[in-house]
Amino acid sequence: ETPHIDYVTEIEKLKKEKNAILLAHYYQKDEIQEIADFVGDSLALAQQAAKTDADIIIFAGVHFMAETAKILNPSKKVVLPDLLAGCSLADSCPAEAFSEFKKQHPNHVVVTYINCSAKIKALSDYVCTSSNAKKIIEAIPKNQPIIFAPDKNLGAYLNKETGRNMLLWDGACVVHEAFSMEKLIKIHKEHPNAEIIAHPESGAHILKTANYIGSTSGLLNYVKNSKKKAFIVATEVGILYEMTKENPNKTIIPAPIEDDNTCACSECAYMKMNTLKKLYLCIKHELPNIEVDAELAKKAIVPIERMLELSK
Ligand code: 13P
Ligand code: SF4
Repeated sequence: ETPHIDYVTEIEKLKKEKNAILLAHYYQKDEIQEIADFVGDSLALAQQAAKTDADIIIFAGVHFMAETAKILNPSKKVVLPDLLAGCSLADSCPAEAFSEFKKQHPNHVVVTYINCSAKIKALSDYVCTSSNAKKIIEAIPKNQPIIFAPDKNLGAYLNKETGRNMLLWDGACVVHEAFSMEKLIKIHKEHPNAEIIAHPESGAHILKTANYIGSTSGLLNYVKNSKKKAFIVATEVGILYEMTKENPNKTIIPAPIEDDNTCACSECAYMKMNTLKKLYLCIKHELPNIEVDAELAKKAIVPIERMLELSK
């Protein structure tokens, strides 16, 4: 018989004993966000990982986030509850194919979204997140041709915002491509006063309908500071935990997806691989831990540090 384990109490205890910090993304399950020491968007999580003095970073997020934490703070042990917690966007940009693409456009500067592997970062001049992408692109001289990878939706949005004509890699996030325009219009008709807000990884047709477009922290700030009372939110549904907590008197509706057999909203299967039980086992055994080859890390940290410098 398996003894009953109170995962929350055990996680708290182990965190103290081992001087570990639990970092979680807004797309994590509610119960994980609840016990995290810090919850944030990709940029804030990278900043926290870079500056923490904890001995162990427990990353409740996906692989590329934990890998970035390890690159930024290599003397720390970085653990991820499930090594299979990947990212469709990162997977849509394999290093060999990207390296070929880069060779075909040798006069281009490479800006990559943080949602990619360390190998792709090592091939980049700048890394960005959805919080700082515009600022980073605008820091590059206007006449300088740019390759933007891997997200074509964010890239197209940024081209429009900055008036650039960046060459886009053809990658996308399954979670943000799942929204149904038809159902979105229907829900909006039922809530005509609701504002549509969207993450820039969403398709252009969805972004066209949006009153506000921003990163997860951008969306949270927008709702918190808005006088409006209702919002339809086109991003991963995990954001509703923080959004409803911060705005108990506002109506917050997740944007509907095409195939709603399982849930009526868009969930990231990778983010949801992390559970309290896996989190507990991961802290207890300090496994699986993330290692990044030293040579690779030396190259990959350059564009990440450029991003952090430009984000101050
Ligand atoms: P941000 O939290 O930086 O907006 O990123 C969204 C995302 O898709 C993370 O995987
Ligand atoms: Fe990747 Fe999309 Fe999941 Fe974010 S939501 S981790 S971009 S698959």
